[in-house]
Amino acid sequence: MSNKINELSEEIRSYQVTNDDQLEQFRLKFIGRKNVIADLFAEMKNIPNDQKKAFGQEVNTLKNIAQEKFQELIESLKSGGEEEAADLDLTLPPSVDQFGSIHPLTATRQRFIQIFERIGFNVSSGPEIEDDWHNFTALNFPPNHPAREMQDTFFIEKNPDIALRTHTSSVQIRVLENEKPPIRTLSPGRVYRNEAISARAHCIFHQMEGLYVDEGVSFADLKQTLYHFVKEMFNEGTKIRFRPSYFPFTEPSAEIDISCQICGGKGCNICKGTGWVEIGGSGMVDPNVLENCGIDSKKYSGFAFGMGIERIAMLKYQIKDLRLFTENDIRFLKQFNAL
Ligand code: PHE
Repeated sequence: MSNKINELSEEIRSYQVTNDDQLEQFRLKFIGRKNVIADLFAEMKNIPNDQKKAFGQEVNTLKNIAQEKFQELIESLKSGGEEEAADLDLTLPPSVDQFGSIHPLTATRQRFIQIFERIGFNVSSGPEIEDDWHNFTALNFPPNHPAREMQDTFFIEKNPDIALRTHTSSVQIRVLENEKPPIRTLSPGRVYRNEAISARAHCIFHQMEGLYVDEGVSFADLKQTLYHFVKEMFNEGTKIRFRPSYFPFTEPSAEIDISCQICGGKGCNICKGTGWVEIGGSGMVDPNVLENCGIDSKKYSGFAFGMGIERIAMLKYQIKDLRLFTENDIRFLKQFNAL
């Protein structure tokens, strides 16, 4: 029997714990209700009378050893924790979580919408894969007319009726077909052109087009609305100028220029010394377009405009290369964290 006691005693003395589970194992084996030492006490009845006393003393000693060891193990776990705490350096800079940020094109689109929503415009959308009617014919581009050259896009060989939309004017046709004036709508969205990719042009970009159709809408409304827009989007001091131009769907038509944001209109290399930069096209909706959509052009008139969201963002944030918007370069995107 002594052998067994010695073995257990040895086991207890050499016991090591590194976590609460191991401590609990020790407790169950040597301290708990059905522990191995209690089993030894139960053996007492089998021990010859003359050895009972010595045996009892040995088992008692073993019990004390186990209890002392248990306290010791509890302490060792606690102090282990303290050591860990001592390793914690509260003066170290925290590891910073990386959050995404709003893309400059998204921010520009949102600002656009905010400005126009306040003056009664809603937002409409349509498909990027368009048919010829909505992208060209209804907009007064007759089939095979040279005006289509201005907006070459990607066609499907087997079905020339389907193309990737070249502008969101196609959305305006859908609105004109489905709604009754007064119509005040903004059409943001991705558009496609068959263009070589460079710092200033891309085959995929984003547009914001606007349309206002009601009784008695005039060029004065167009001018005032866009003047309000540029002051809100850029700053109070921004000037606006209209240059006569041509679009099949507007008559008269005008390019919209604003005073250069870099030099304030004095002339620099961004505005090529002119003091002006172009931001988009505009004009009075051609009566043919209204009639194509079932709207009485004798009763109603309207204006429309279209701008590239990239172009506005480039001017607003002084970005020199259009390609940066789609390259996903973190070093570029991080500069817009505050948007
Ligand atoms: N849809 C024209 C374009 O993409 C822009 C425009 C819209 C011009 C409305 C005039 C009026 O080039």
